Amino acid sequence: MRTIIVDTYEDLSLVAARLVGDEIGEKPDLVLGLPTGRTPVGFYAALVQLYRQGRVDFSRVVTFNLDEYYPMDPRDPRSFHAFMQKHLLEHVNVPWDHVHIPDGRAPEPEQACAEYEHQLARAGGIDLLVLGIGHNGHIGFNEPGAPRQGRTGPVRLAHETIQANFGSVGPGVPRFALSMGIGTILESRKILLLASGQDKASIIRRALLGPVTPDVPASFLQLHPSLTVILDRGAAAYWPAS
Ligand code: GLP
Repeated sequence: MRTIIVDTYEDLSLVAARLVGDEIGEKPDLVLGLPTGRTPVGFYAALVQLYRQGRVDFSRVVTFNLDEYYPMDPRDPRSFHAFMQKHLLEHVNVPWDHVHIPDGRAPEPEQACAEYEHQLARAGGIDLLVLGIGHNGHIGFNEPGAPRQGRTGPVRLAHETIQANFGSVGPGVPRFALSMGIGTILESRKILLLASGQDKASIIRRALLGPVTPDVPASFLQLHPSLTVILDRGAAAYWPAS
């Protein structure tokens, strides 16, 4: 595991964008796995900046998102489809047919997830997967207890995840998501984990320095042969001094 500790969230975003830009430079048809949430917003802004400066070309890149709420209309501003359009896809030149996000309207979610796995396989698997981490150690929407060999499938969202992501658990809030499984995630050839803020310091320590356990899905990342972790000062608060 390679750990990069930087001072600020802006530094984290820039370092992550440069790392991904370098990977695209080395492999222009990079198959890139992408996260959502608050953490990657600055990373996407920095990536868009690199694109606008002509320092990265997305024209041959293929993207696969980790997850999408279910049910969720892709036109709903709360959807991860909308999130990706807003923060990355409408600003760079990824061909629209190179973009893959689980379908929140699929009539048969299990079938849609199996097809997502087939699309991943046809693309040759993920070269580089960028991840965030939930406060309870979830990655994608793999909540505590998720199986190590899990594949892309429908998952029930934990109460605290729904609360954190929607601010309520009332009617009209999705209770499920379609998420890459931990087995799918770990098949990525490289993984880049981003964490920012003191509120992530405890789960980062547990996930990366504690026991590998289904209780903390992100702890399975310790098994990956090519994991890079970028932490800002807050998220590194409990990280052992080197
Ligand atoms: C969300 C997403 C995850 C994300 C996590 C942390 O539920 N499904 O992919 O990594 O929560 O989000 P944030 O970066 O906002 O803390």
